[in-house]
Amino acid sequence: MKFLVTAGPTREPIDPVRYISNRSSGKMGFAIAEVAINAGHEVILISGPVNLAPPCDVTLIAVSTADEMFGAVHAHADESDVCVLCAAVADYKPANVSPMKIKKPGEKFLLELTPTRDILGSLGNRRDRQFLLVGFAAETNEVEENAAKKLRDKNCDIIVANDVSSVNSGMESDANEVTILFKNGERRRISRAQKKIIARELVKIFTNSATKMFDKKNVMITERN
Ligand code: CTP
Repeated sequence: MKFLVTAGPTREPIDPVRYISNRSSGKMGFAIAEVAINAGHEVILISGPVNLAPPCDVTLIAVSTADEMFGAVHAHADESDVCVLCAAVADYKPANVSPMKIKKPGEKFLLELTPTRDILGSLGNRRDRQFLLVGFAAETNEVEENAAKKLRDKNCDIIVANDVSSVNSGMESDANEVTILFKNGERRRISRAQKKIIARELVKIFTNSATKMFDKKNVMITERN
């Protein structure tokens, strides 16, 4: 199968020396890409700035901003069977990027932000989508409720929810603990483990779900003929 995986944070420039970003390390997305390539799949990895070497044989597309990630994902989604959007995309970007370094303006400094485009939502809302769509939900509270809402709102097939409130799992950590929510209401939990082990389970689940989805489509096409 062909996998598209997004990973890492995005950087939204304020001026030539400053940006808005987040603490995503990219480890979960890179682990998924590595497991998928080792399982014999083709992988395009679209990553924001991270300190990780890309796994061998993975096609890496390095991006920086949410807009660049949006463009790269849309350029490659239709050639994919499974799209896994693991990146921590900035929700807002500065309304204006100063071409020169901003000087300390005084006591207070207000920065106007404008929303970025939602990459996951934009794929989920496409009626012609032929690929399995997986999103991640990084939450600090009411993890499963918030994740279930994202599954519905962004119209994905699977949401992988993780609690990022603990220092021992989630962002920056090597370990993670996730709950997988499926569109049909089914839920599965993977208890705390190294991200590479979690990635192995996730890739199995994504591959099975994609196979089921494609089988169902083939049956529908055959029945129509
Ligand atoms: N996502 C995206 N594009 C954005 C923001 C998020 O594709 N502009 C994707 C992420 O890659 C992830 C999912 O949406 O798969 C959920 O991201 P998250 O940051 O948890 O949720 P948000 O939609 O940003 O909502 P909130 O910050 O309010 O929790």
